[in-house]
Amino acid sequence: MTQRIGIIGGTGIERPDPDAGERIVDTPYGQARVWVGGDHADEVVFVSRHGVEHDIPPHRINYRANIDALRQLGVDRVLATFAVGGIADDVPPGAAVALDQLIDLTHGRESTFFDGGESGLRHTVFTEPFCSSLRAAILDRAGGHGIAMRPTGTYACANGPRFETAAEIRMLRLWGADVVGMTAMPEAVLARELEIHYAGIAISVNWAAGIRGPLALDFDALNTMRARLLPLMLDVLRTTKPAGCSCFEPSA
Ligand code: HPA
Repeated sequence: MTQRIGIIGGTGIERPDPDAGERIVDTPYGQARVWVGGDHADEVVFVSRHGVEHDIPPHRINYRANIDALRQLGVDRVLATFAVGGIADDVPPGAAVALDQLIDLTHGRESTFFDGGESGLRHTVFTEPFCSSLRAAILDRAGGHGIAMRPTGTYACANGPRFETAAEIRMLRLWGADVVGMTAMPEAVLARELEIHYAGIAISVNWAAGIRGPLALDFDALNTMRARLLPLMLDVLRTTKPAGCSCFEPSA
């Protein structure tokens, strides 16, 4: 199988490379829309998580089809971007965070490939939800691409599509969450289930609810960073064959 690298673009990173070719991939979970391109025509597979028109809300994304399609196309490592609200004091709008932990507050989403019956049952080890090898490479390279990267961050995944209440954010802060978003789950665990190394970069686009005045989204910094973020991700993915991470610890 050809070895390919994958990028899942979140809010603000919706548009594929104009030279990439669109492919519709059939999966047991429905169709996924991807774009294939890169230096060697078929090297990079891009998924636009919310769709290129930004019309797929977080709870309606077909996470299983997206991840299954990446696997079918031979992708073994993925970097995903997330627009988030900043909870920690040092994650103002515009800050970039290399995620290392997750708190999952989603509900009602298809969150596993191991759904009983023919697909069986598996309890996936998820102690370290993001690939530590890819994250180390992100930290190593970010400065060279002009991006100040916070080295760790706990992402709380809210269900959305509404924003959180101020009390929810106070609770998440007490729980140790640094940022809040709506899409890292079940995406991260589905990648783990299909043995795809997966790491995430969060970009703060607002202070989370109740932290500093009215909630105000600010995409300027993300828009400016986009031109540096994509080269960083390609650099990391192309040059890092993940090793020494705990992504493939045997599951029960
Ligand atoms: N909460 C949840 N998801 C988000 C936010 C937020 O404040 N900002 C961007 N995505």
